[in-house]
Amino acid sequence: MLLTRFLVLGLASFAVATRVSEPVKRVAHEIRRSLPHGWSLVRRAEPDVILPLSVGLVQSNLENLETYLLDVAHPESPNYSKHWTPAQVADAFRPSTESVDAVREWLIEDGSIDASRIVLSKSGSWVTANVTVSEAERLLGTEYFVYAHSEDGREHIACHGAYHVPETVSRHVDIITPTLHFDVKVRRHGSTDRATAAKQVGSVGFGAAPKIGDVIHTIFTDLEHCDETITLACLRVLYDFVYQPVAADKNSIGVVEYTPQSHNPSDFDVFFGNYSKNQVGERPTLVSIDGGFIDPEGDFGESSLDLQYVLGLVGTKQNVLLYQTGDNVEGASFNNLLDGIDGSYCTFEGGDDPSQDGIYPDTDPGGYAGPEDCGGKPTAYVISTSYGYQEADLTPAYMQRQCAEYGKLSLTGITFVYSSGDSGVAGPDGSCLTEDGQQELGAPRFSPTFPGGCPYVTSVGATQVVPGHKVTDRESAVFQRFPSGGGFSNVFPRSSFQKAAVAGYLEKYPPPYAAGIFNSTGRAFPDVAANGLNYSVVLNGQFRLISGTSASAPTFASILSAINDARLAVGKKPVGWVNPALYSPTISWAFNDIINGSNPGCGTNGFAARPGWDPVSGLGTPNFLKLLPQFLLLP
Ligand SMILES: *[C@@H]1O[C@H](CO)[C@@H](O)[C@H](O)[C@H]1NC(C)=O
Ligand SMILES: *[C@@H]1O[C@H](CO)[C@@H](O)[C@H](O)[C@H]1NC(C)=O
Ligand SMILES: *[C@@H]1O[C@H](CO)[C@@H](O)[C@H](O)[C@H]1NC(C)=O
Ligand SMILES: *[C@@H]1O[C@H](CO)[C@@H](O)[C@H](O)[C@H]1NC(C)=O
Ligand SMILES: *[C@@H]1O[C@H](CO)[C@@H](O)[C@H](O)[C@H]1NC(C)=O
Ligand SMILES: *[C@@H]1O[C@H](CO)[C@@H](O)[C@H](O)[C@H]1NC(C)=O
Repeated sequence: MLLTRFLVLGLASFAVATRVSEPVKRVAHEIRRSLPHGWSLVRRAEPDVILPLSVGLVQSNLENLETYLLDVAHPESPNYSKHWTPAQVADAFRPSTESVDAVREWLIEDGSIDASRIVLSKSGSWVTANVTVSEAERLLGTEYFVYAHSEDGREHIACHGAYHVPETVSRHVDIITPTLHFDVKVRRHGSTDRATAAKQVGSVGFGAAPKIGDVIHTIFTDLEHCDETITLACLRVLYDFVYQPVAADKNSIGVVEYTPQSHNPSDFDVFFGNYSKNQVGERPTLVSIDGGFIDPEGDFGESSLDLQYVLGLVGTKQNVLLYQTGDNVEGASFNNLLDGIDGSYCTFEGGDDPSQDGIYPDTDPGGYAGPEDCGGKPTAYVISTSYGYQEADLTPAYMQRQCAEYGKLSLTGITFVYSSGDSGVAGPDGSCLTEDGQQELGAPRFSPTFPGGCPYVTSVGATQVVPGHKVTDRESAVFQRFPSGGGFSNVFPRSSFQKAAVAGYLEKYPPPYAAGIFNSTGRAFPDVAANGLNYSVVLNGQFRLISGTSASAPTFASILSAINDARLAVGKKPVGWVNPALYSPTISWAFNDIINGSNPGCGTNGFAARPGWDPVSGLGTPNFLKLLPQFLLLP
């Protein structure tokens, strides 16, 4: 599983003293080739500092996850939409006792850690012990250092380069923390207005102009100005999206926001007052995770965009959940959301990485003092998120664990929708990858986003109406203000569901790049696209234009939710992991093919949008009236 797990080091210095007669063969378990942006090494960590060492055990049956998923999500499977219960999912993946024993024995014998100090998590998937830095260094064949962040001076303890475990233990272990992982905060994909965009890590130097929306004084409600301002009415025409929910009580959709992103509730009424009068007074239902709250002083933009459009598109009858995640001090990341909706993930599927994810209770002044949420939050059939990382910000193990969790939750019938990124084939600050995977300005290799590369999410790129064109004309890949994120994962291999579509693109329209510029064997994204330019959004009473794949994801999610509603109404199940169905011949034709534009970055034109699937607009934009009957034909 881990790319690096079986790299044999064979360095004598890693043999453990107590076993000189029979040296333990160690392998590098995880490697980090570069420090994330902004961090620099300050000093060695003091040997007696205590680290909460956590060993995440490999799950049983993880190698079968995709098979299980295809069984319930491939449109030709006899078990299509026969989703699993959460308990079935937990049972299927619980780590074996062999794994627990192997790790425990390693800690006791190699680490001289007394058995009384070792704790096995309730779910049986997480072995923990408080150890000193020197104990951890001995166990893991590594050295710990203190690193500081250039912006706020924040310090963080991490090990350098790699950590190692005995070969016999490595195959039982997914991830060990704290080790190589850094506190890279979740970045928004949205280009919002106000000063917030400037504060975003990575926004400096990206693009020629900041993606700041102007206040608009003329509120168009007709369909003649969709090439200037996108409204609910424009989207309904673009995607033939006319639908009245009939099973709203059974259906559900959720939008995820990470504090300090927030919204002003009264803005809904100004928005609806102008665009959807019978929705005045409607609000999303708050699901607070790890202290998340609607902060009147928060950053407005992303959240207002997502919620105004999802509420507006799903219409009056459908309730919308707002997963507001993290307090205002520490914030949170995708794992906090996943913990909140799946108790088994808190420990079972890797637990949180204290250096990466929000850890609660937050002891900082003003922090959320409550316990970390672990299960019990309602799930929604469609969950839309417009935030993301670059793959190079994270370690492969961290991404693989999280991606597997999207897969596991998808087994229960959930669809995860993510924006594909707003910087073409580059990172948000324009940086690309060096040959050894570091993010640098001017580096040649394309920099894929996460979780766009995870096969178990549906990744949504952005399109736009071409200026001077009508709303009924074919859209282009977005080319004003930002290029749509897209490309090929360096971590996740290509899944069967998209093999034919992607191979077709690479054969017919070979990108003009040397080997190594992009990973032609990786999972390709986005899967689909939707308009992402100049959405008219109310922020503190004023209309502004907001652009980004941040807009595309909630739009696509709303359309999927309507498809779920129609299926639920006739006694069928929601679509769940929808990618295999989207790419199948009975459904892929129901998209509006996008054949113009590209996603530039890294000193190149990126990829070109072409007939059929492409790594800019995916299969194209949805045509609801064509998609709906196809999804109703499925079992
Ligand atoms: C479908 O589900 C049944 C019952 O869970 C299982 O036995 C079978 O292997 C599954 N797959 C197929 C292709 O029938
Ligand atoms: C580690 O120490 C913390 C703080 O004292 C404690 O809450 C935690 O339970 C300890 N963990 C283990 C595995 O002993
Ligand atoms: C988007 O808005 C900008 C600024 O108002 C305008 O220049 C541009 O033409 C608009 N484009 C579209 C396609 O809406
Ligand atoms: C429409 O928007 C304007 C702000 O541009 C606001 O003043 C007005 O109250 C809104 N209309 C309705 C009916 O809410
Ligand atoms: C390309 O992706 C594969 C997974 O499909 C991965 O194993 C490989 O390391 C990637 N190559 C590079 C250069 O990142
Ligand atoms: C095609 O995309 C280019 C930018 O790449 C844009 O200038 C042009 O207007 C687009 N044309 C059509 C017909 O979509």
